Parts: sequence; C-alpha cells; structure tokens
Amino acid sequence: MNNAPIAVFDSGQGGLSVWSELYRGLPHESLLYYGDGKNCPYGNQSKEQVTEYVDYAVRRMLEAGAKMVVIACNTATAAAIDYLRASYPVPFVGLEPAVKPAALTSRSGVIGILATAGSLKGHLFQTTAHKYADRVRIIEQVGEGFVELVENNQENSPEAYETVVRLLKPMLDAGADRIVLGCTHYPFLADTMRKVIGDRDVQLINPAPAIERRVASLLEQYALTADVDHKPEYTFMTSADDVYLARLIAKSEQAKALVSAGNAAIFR
Ligand code: DGL
Repeated sequence: MNNAPIAVFDSGQGGLSVWSELYRGLPHESLLYYGDGKNCPYGNQSKEQVTEYVDYAVRRMLEAGAKMVVIACNTATAAAIDYLRASYPVPFVGLEPAVKPAALTSRSGVIGILATAGSLKGHLFQTTAHKYADRVRIIEQVGEGFVELVENNQENSPEAYETVVRLLKPMLDAGADRIVLGCTHYPFLADTMRKVIGDRDVQLINPAPAIERRVASLLEQYALTADVDHKPEYTFMTSADDVYLARLIAKSEQAKALVSAGNAAIFR
C-alpha cells in the first residue's frame, strides 16, 4: 500500500483528458498534475529540448513525492520515455498513438492518425505503424494548430471548425473509419471533429481509458495501490503563471469543482 500521489504530466492542458480518467477510475489515489504551460507546445521542438523540459518537471514531481509518473503527452513520451525509465526509480506510463486498436477494428482498412510532428517522428510510433502497415493503410496527419486552439479555449470556435475540416478531410476522403487522437490535447476537439465527421461511420480513438487500466494494473504489480480508506489529495502545478493555472483547472469540470470546493491544492 502506498498513499503517495500519482503524477500526471503534460506540456500543457491536454493531459487533463488522461487525468479525468484516472480521477474517475481510481477514486482513492491522490493525483498531482503538472502542465508545462511555459514551454507548450512541444510538437515542433527538438527531442533534446523536450527531454530537458520533461526531466525538470519529473524531478519536481518526484520531489513532491510522486510514486508513479504518467507522461500524459505523446510528444514527451516519444522524446524522453527511455531516458526517464533509465534515470529514475519509479514506474513510468507513457502514451503513444493508439495504432493497434484502430488497425484491429477498422473495417475499411484505412485509419487516420492525428499527432504532433514529434510523435510521428518518434521510434515508438514508427515501430508500431510498421507492424500494422500490411493490415491497414495508415494516413498520418500532424494536428497543426490543434494544441494552440485547445490551450486558448478555442476548441468550439469557427477557426477550430475550419482547421478540423482541413486536417480531417484527406483521411475522411480516403475512407478512414478510425481516427486516432494521438495527442492528449485532441480529445478536447472531439465535439468539433464529430460535427465535421457528420453521419459517416467513423470512430475517434482516445487512449485515456486504456491508460487508466494500465495505471491500475501497474499499481497492483508494484504494490503501490492506495488504501481503500485513503482520502485522496489533488494538486495542480504549472511552470507558467497563475492565470494559466486557472485556465488549466477550468478546462476540466472535475478539476474546477475540486478547486472551488477547496478540495485541491494549487502551486507553482
Ligand atoms: N499533449 C501533447 C501530446 O500528447 C503535446 C502537445 C504539444 O505540446 O505539442 O502530444
């Protein structure tokens, strides 16, 4: 048993799509969220630079007592997960675009992958894509502009709609019936994407529920599960300023409710 927090890291607010699943599925676990708002977006930055940012954040989260770290950012995972696992003694959970469930369930034989440039270049994605390449046709698309729209609360704006139309059109025209949300910011655009998809038989694949199951199983495996009567604590941290942190918290209904009820700590 271990009542220390699980750390959830993202370049910004996107990791809240994973945080929400952990909050829902692991009600006894304390959660510590860190959004690197000062350095977001990561998507077009070098592997070395991203590794440096992530390393700094991970050190802060471990100093705060984290027992496990979820890198709720595909780009950060692609850049730094090997380094992190080799450098720190806690279990790490990383994210990579969910090619496998898309490839195994596609009926049209065409799947679309939306992710950042950094994730699509990474060896995790390249290896997985290669593995399924003879089963499905994979259409890769960098979600250019998506992270900025989400960070600026513009996911339901006309600009978001136009951007989604432009980026999804090639995969929809090619007959993709599965679209992988390979960046944790993208689930926040799911409503706009569904509008663009209309009545086509296309499923969006968000890996967050699978990540929650993975975390639950690793907690068991490492005997790190919190006590059933543990009252969880929720903490939100950022490298950016208080205005950013307030926006980050407002992004998640659950986080907002926790903070306004005085049930979450916030610090910079
Ligand atoms: N949310 C991140 C991901 O899953 C990265 C977004 C960014 O900073 O570009 O890839």
